[in-house]
Amino acid sequence: MTTSTPSFSPGLEGVPIAESALSLVEGQAGRLSYRGYSIEEITRPENTFEEIVALLYDGELPSAARIAEVEKDLQSKRGLTADQIELARLATKVTHPMFALQAAAASLGPKTNDFEPHVATAQERGMAAIARMGHLVGVIAQAYAGRPYEGPQPGETHSEMMIRMITGQKPSELHLRVMNALMILQADHSAGNASTFTSRVVTSTKSEPEAVLSSAIGALSGPAHGGANEASLRLFESMGAPEGAKPKIERMLADHYKIPGFGHRVYHVKDPRSKVIQTLAAEVIEPGSRVSELYQISLTVEEVATARLGDRGLFPNVDLFSGCVFAAIGIPTDLFTPIFAASRTLGWMANMKEQWESGNRIFRPAQIYAGPTPPRDYIPRSARA
Ligand SMILES: CC(C)(COP(=O)(O)OP(=O)(O)OC[C@H]1O[C@@H](n2cnc3c(N)ncnc32)[C@H](O)[C@@H]1OP(=O)(O)O)[C@@H](O)C(=O)NCCC(=O)NCCS
Repeated sequence: MTTSTPSFSPGLEGVPIAESALSLVEGQAGRLSYRGYSIEEITRPENTFEEIVALLYDGELPSAARIAEVEKDLQSKRGLTADQIELARLATKVTHPMFALQAAAASLGPKTNDFEPHVATAQERGMAAIARMGHLVGVIAQAYAGRPYEGPQPGETHSEMMIRMITGQKPSELHLRVMNALMILQADHSAGNASTFTSRVVTSTKSEPEAVLSSAIGALSGPAHGGANEASLRLFESMGAPEGAKPKIERMLADHYKIPGFGHRVYHVKDPRSKVIQTLAAEVIEPGSRVSELYQISLTVEEVATARLGDRGLFPNVDLFSGCVFAAIGIPTDLFTPIFAASRTLGWMANMKEQWESGNRIFRPAQIYAGPTPPRDYIPRSARA
């Protein structure tokens, strides 16, 4: 007997979903590159988020003039209406900042729903989404902290605006550099990660870019994806002092608890982003601080979990250490994933543009049906038990 049942890969493991020239994740080599440039290079101290916006859109490292142009472009596009600001602040009263961000991002959409004739504006709409998402995260952080709205200041770069609005403090040079590096590291991660795949699926229905954005934010929110940065810091906080961490984490692993910030579908070595983040951690975490204790706990988690799971190809991912670095620059825990979303908006929007450029056929995969064989004999309601 022949069978036409297609093979099924749970979680689409190993199934290509797009052709992309944006970023490459090499799981065995433990390498991540944007347009061919390794993340270790593009997070050098002088690199800014704007520079990587230009790199991902243009495909080449930008000149100083191009970087200045991107800075100006983001600044000119980041305005929000009073209603959008009020909506974001209101949403923050009723729900987690990440869900408030999802709602607020949807409110950035136009009053029409007809993007296809305007697809030539995909990059412009993407740039507006990047610019306004940074601003929105600031709005939400201020509302969450019970502070009044204080918007972007003239001439502020994207990271400067975000960190000032989120923390209420003008950032030091070091904090600004760390923020830029974190935003760059989180900006893209191939088309196959769950939220970017979501952005491509929603794009394929010819949706407006802001609908793509809000859907991708929902996908990122989960603790198996972007929400792991928040979950890992909360785990470390729950462990108390670093001295007691080892037996606690051993017990968790014995109970098959999934450690947030550990394991990856593609990397079977230590995530290269986590190594860059540890370099930042060494610079920015103040010795003797509570964050320094939390970082010690994260190192214990790495040691114990690697000893137990390393031979199965499970190692720290980007989220094991990123929370400690965010905390060290004064970011509240509930804002970690919204900042991840603001960073990844670049990847989502660049993938949206690429999806349109590559034909944009609607995603419509198959299923393997496991229900009763039709047609079943219908039973009228009056005859049912
Ligand atoms: C990232 C992640 C979702 C990848 O999932 P996946 O490729 O589908 O892998 P699975 O969940 O099937 O895990 C495979 C095995 O490794 C184990 N494993 C995976 N991640 C683990 C973790 N963080 N802690 C402990 N065990 C883990 C699973 O329990 C499973 O074991 P089993 O075969 O005995 O059942 C998963 O590793 C995870 O949930 N990690 C924690 C959340 C996280 O950090 N997410 C951010 C990713 S950047």
